[in-house]
Amino acid sequence: MSYIEVNYPTDKKEFYEMLKEQLQLYIGEETNQTAILANVSSVIAQAFPEANWVGFYLVDGEELVLGPFQGKPAVSRIGYGCGVCGTALKEKHSQVVEEVSCFPGHIACDCNTHAEIVIPLLDKENGNIWGVLDMDSVIPGYFTEEDRIGLEQAVELL
Ligand code: SME
Repeated sequence: MSYIEVNYPTDKKEFYEMLKEQLQLYIGEETNQTAILANVSSVIAQAFPEANWVGFYLVDGEELVLGPFQGKPAVSRIGYGCGVCGTALKEKHSQVVEEVSCFPGHIACDCNTHAEIVIPLLDKENGNIWGVLDMDSVIPGYFTEEDRIGLEQAVELL
């Protein structure tokens, strides 16, 4: 399938409707988790030009391990309760961080990052977290509550 450039609307509701359509298009009938998460990280990165890192950390025992992503190389393992991702895992809810330097224990992967959002990925059958979607932006306060809600709905496609 060849990628067709899409122009995302500025209205957030319409933006997330289009994002979900695009994600569904690239998830399709695929069942391999690596292939799905690789394309999902790419589709989201295309939709958020101001995001400098978009990717997944997956639960591996007590900690998180790096999954498919778009952006600069990143830390491969994050402990339970550590950083923004490990906090999302521990608290079982999304984290919206306006300024990462103000987040206690933030793990810096790119010194240009200011804002971050982390969305837990929930098993539909038992509610357990099996990973997180992590996004960074160089723009302070970039991610909003609308993004949290939109992204939480988007990852339900996974
Ligand atoms: N900042 C994250 C670490 C991963 S990088 O942002 C890609 C954290 O504090 O958990």
